[in-house]
Amino acid sequence: MSDHWDAQAETFGEAMSAVWSETGTDYVQRAYACVDWITLRMKTWKLNKDLPVLDFGCGIGRLTLLMAELLPMLTFEGVDISPKMIAHAERSRKMAGLENVSFKVGSADEGGTIAGAYSMLVIQHLDRREARLNIESMVARTQPRGRVVFQFVEGAYHEGHDHRYTLDEIHYWASMHGGVVEAMDVDGDYPEWIWTTVVKR
Ligand SMILES: C[S@@+](CC[C@H](N)C(=O)[O-])C[C@H]1O[C@@H](n2cnc3c(N)ncnc32)[C@H](O)[C@@H]1O
Repeated sequence: MSDHWDAQAETFGEAMSAVWSETGTDYVQRAYACVDWITLRMKTWKLNKDLPVLDFGCGIGRLTLLMAELLPMLTFEGVDISPKMIAHAERSRKMAGLENVSFKVGSADEGGTIAGAYSMLVIQHLDRREARLNIESMVARTQPRGRVVFQFVEGAYHEGHDHRYTLDEIHYWASMHGGVVEAMDVDGDYPEWIWTTVVKR
């Protein structure tokens, strides 16, 4: 799995830009829209500043670096299964001179307590076992009153590149470790994309 993503690391930004421009969506605008959506909510959550916010499946740090710049009072930790994605993200971090963000190879199920977590464009690439494990882990690691936000593609599960999950499945997995789904918002551009907010009890 990490080989698949390693192979895309150096051209990831260009590849995403091309995919989105086919559907008339601007890559940079889209990244800012995601970050705006997450930061707007995060600002109201009073997250613990002493614990990191996890970016699960951070890739080249496209969103993590923007988030760290926009919310300098918080610290961010990007994790990704691909060492090459992480190396790319770390290079960009150094160039940006950001100290409140770190990157490491891994998944959501490794590490200690976090203030909260977010994940964008990742769940749809995971099979059922991995999707469940990582959603459960993000919630399990989040401290009480913290939040986990992630986007997934709604639908009946099918094998292949694009993994879809039902609203009921997501509710169930999120609730395993004291999480309660607070909101499921339909994306403005892609109606099958569901933005999920989970609050930890
Ligand atoms: C489409 S990219 C999205 C990257 C980033 N979230 C963004 O929006 O720019 C999906 C990322 O998920 C990572 N990934 C896939 N499976 C993973 C897993 N089990 N654990 C951690 N990262 C994973 C891939 O390596 C890849 O970087």
